[in-house]
Amino acid sequence: MAGAGISTASGIPDFRSPESGFYSSLQRCDVPYPEAVFELSFFLDNPRPFFTWAKSMYPGNFRPNVIHYFLRLLHDRGLLQRLYTQNIDGLERASGIPGSKLVEAHGSFASATCTGCGKASTEQDFWAAVMADRVPRCAACSGLVKPDVVFFGEALPQRFFLHLVDFPTAELLLVLGTSLKVEPFASLSEAVRSSVPRVFMNREAVDSWRPRSRDVVQLGDLVDSVERLVELLGWTEELRDLVQRETEKLSRPDS
Ligand code: OAD
Ligand code: ZN
Repeated sequence: MAGAGISTASGIPDFRSPESGFYSSLQRCDVPYPEAVFELSFFLDNPRPFFTWAKSMYPGNFRPNVIHYFLRLLHDRGLLQRLYTQNIDGLERASGIPGSKLVEAHGSFASATCTGCGKASTEQDFWAAVMADRVPRCAACSGLVKPDVVFFGEALPQRFFLHLVDFPTAELLLVLGTSLKVEPFASLSEAVRSSVPRVFMNREAVDSWRPRSRDVVQLGDLVDSVERLVELLGWTEELRDLVQRETEKLSRPDS
């Protein structure tokens, strides 16, 4: 399970960190409370704060970091049953983890839909508008176009229900970089069998984590924690090679 804390090392602010988080940056804006930016009723009334945030998330601007590549390495080694992420930055995919292994529980920017008539918009049209500071509008009905990221109160993607088969059969649960504040995602951390070890790595402890006897809780910077785990596993060199190979691939002009 992953949250915004796995992407801060890629330069993407998380939501709830006191000074650097997106929600604290909203204090200067015309928003009644931070989560309103991701609520449909507020969005229909005032979509600007959402699109300002969306612009800052433009996919071309960010690269996966060592944490994403650690997860990719788990996949390469046949150890990743599934990666459940709350992130909509697409960096898990960009790291080379196939879509079949991913559950993007809060959706993604890969598609967008008109809030008026339900017509799909192309990713290209959507980004063209957002990057030009225009609010994207539907060609058919001029309704607001919203990327298919999950807003509060909206249903999660169908794939989220894979958790019903994945969690009861998991042998180890990693929970990385999340405040576990948003349901139903947060409760997945309780969905593994009680005998299954859970490893929680985050900057700080979180209230909703209910300790179990086989838990490992590693607090501090996630890059440090992941690098330490990788060292204990004896994978340091393998991970370094993977990062180098993939970084070169992403740096090529045709990528
Ligand atoms: P949060 O911002 O709530 O939590 C991120 C957690 O990661 C915090 O506890 C940070 O301390 C921690 N963190 C950040 N950088 C870190 C680092 N370098 N090392 C270690 N820990 C670090 O983000 P999420 O839990 O992902 O939903 O938020 C869940 C959902 O709330 C998001 O998907 C989004 C938001 O509203 C929607 O937009 C629907
Ligand atoms: Zn429309």
